Amino acid sequence: MKQAFLCYASAAFGLEGLVADELRRLGFPDAKAENGGVRFTASPEGIFLCNLKLHFCDRVFILAAEQKCTSFEDLYQLVASVPWQEYLSGDESILVSAKCARSTLMSPRDCQAVTKKSIIEQLRKSTGRSFFPENGSSFPVLVSIHSDLVRILINTSGEALSRRGYRTWNGEAPLRETLAAALVQLSPWRPDMMLYDPCCGTGTILIEATLKASGIAPGLRRHFAMESFSPFRTVPFDTLRQDAAHESVADLHLSVSGSDIDPEAVKLAIRHIRQAQLEGKVHIEVRPLQQVFLQSGRGVFICNPPYGERLSDQKTCRLLYHDLRLLKERHPGWSMCVISSDPSFERSYGRRADKKRRLYNGRLECTYYIFY
Ligand SMILES: C[S@@+](CC[C@H](N)C(=O)[O-])C[C@H]1O[C@@H](n2cnc3c(N)ncnc32)[C@H](O)[C@@H]1O
Repeated sequence: MKQAFLCYASAAFGLEGLVADELRRLGFPDAKAENGGVRFTASPEGIFLCNLKLHFCDRVFILAAEQKCTSFEDLYQLVASVPWQEYLSGDESILVSAKCARSTLMSPRDCQAVTKKSIIEQLRKSTGRSFFPENGSSFPVLVSIHSDLVRILINTSGEALSRRGYRTWNGEAPLRETLAAALVQLSPWRPDMMLYDPCCGTGTILIEATLKASGIAPGLRRHFAMESFSPFRTVPFDTLRQDAAHESVADLHLSVSGSDIDPEAVKLAIRHIRQAQLEGKVHIEVRPLQQVFLQSGRGVFICNPPYGERLSDQKTCRLLYHDLRLLKERHPGWSMCVISSDPSFERSYGRRADKKRRLYNGRLECTYYIFY
């Protein structure tokens, strides 16, 4: 089995740089960001550690092949160039998905079928078998086509890495965990300061901040597709998981809290905090942000208020944005960090942000505003 794989860590637009920085910190010096993800090389153990520890990445793939293709024959040959017998025993359930954008090959369904046919044909030749029952573990393959550039990607994560395992019930418009972690990372908050989310919903920002500050690997409570890949049988997954668990800082004192006007959201937040095993570390209560008064002289507000598109009407949201400014004025030593898709956010808030960054919440283009 190969000891080094060319890998691709996919990321939401705007977060690629954060993923590359984190990869370098984790010991992958060749991490290089590009639109939509980061390339790097890693051993099987390294790939597992990335799945376990990366905070902002969507999925970790092995980049099995890459080339420009403008016909199905090109695609068939590209897939056939991958030594599938090194990855597959022949019993796996091969799950091919495809996404196509701005390319000659624009039918995901046909690209899926051609890819699957090519993989099976290759396995037939290399194993001499004619029947593949596909009743074993899942082996997910993604064919990603953009501007005719085709990438054949083996998905080592399985479900998206944002699915940490603590959020089993979603409130209205919850924030993806990877984006919540990024909002914390891009804010001026440091673990010795107070952090408060005045629109905490199901608690994602507060949970992600606490996990990161406590050194708790975000993937500790879930499994990854690669754990059942046959060439990775000898990787000591349990030991690596236990080692990662020991890296967390047990007696760290953090001041992380929040509130929301909706009692149902607060109930969910309390449940998620319990499921993330952070009871006693994150404090939540029902309270409208107009009634938030904090004693601490220094801290950071981070919040994901309604945008007006999905939750409530624009007028209510714009009044709420103004109330966020009043909240900041009641707390002069605090910074305010807000993500919103409303282009007139600064006008409603009543001030220009000191710093702005374009981010995507799902498909929604947003701006992250920071007021120091
Ligand atoms: C987009 S959601 C936040 C989602 C949250 N980040 C999560 O991950 O679940 C916006 C939240 O703002 C809350 N909200 C709306 N108006 C509020 C107000 N006046 N005071 C406090 N919270 C408010 C809503 O109840 C909702 O939970």
